[in-house]
Amino acid sequence: MGAKVLMVCLGNICRSPLAEGILKSKLDKENFHVDSAGTASYHIGKKPDDRSISIAKRYGIDISQQRCRQFTFKDFSDFDFIFAMDNSNYENVIALAKNKNDKAKVKLLLYKTNTTNKEVPDPYYGGDDGFEEIFHLIDSACNLIAQDLMHK
Ligand code: 4NP
Repeated sequence: MGAKVLMVCLGNICRSPLAEGILKSKLDKENFHVDSAGTASYHIGKKPDDRSISIAKRYGIDISQQRCRQFTFKDFSDFDFIFAMDNSNYENVIALAKNKNDKAKVKLLLYKTNTTNKEVPDPYYGGDDGFEEIFHLIDSACNLIAQDLMHK
């Protein structure tokens, strides 16, 4: 088994399910494990937001079978890389880290993209355009991450 990657946002219904589905679509299943979680507990057990399901579907990715779960400190031992969608998610995850090794696993998803803003905006209260925008932001970041992981 190669790398294990966890995508994290607040609700685990809009951004991180897309990030999970998009990165999975770029890596081979046998060698990589990709999952997602939310720092909040509001939506545990629910499927992704319909707007995320539909934008993913438009680009040939099925995320409808995913179910929301909450991030726990145990994820630091289960995963090699933890990508947070925005600064607030990053701080929430870091707050649960036990040591330097845990902290070193956490990065912003967009840290390698050449956008000035390194945050994936929360699309929950916005319109469908927001989902189109975050799909492309997440997709560019996942291209870079997939390249890195496959050349390790
Ligand atoms: P996500 O979006 O963090 O990308 O899944 C949100 C989903 C739900 C809420 C906020 C953000 N909420 O407040 O319920």
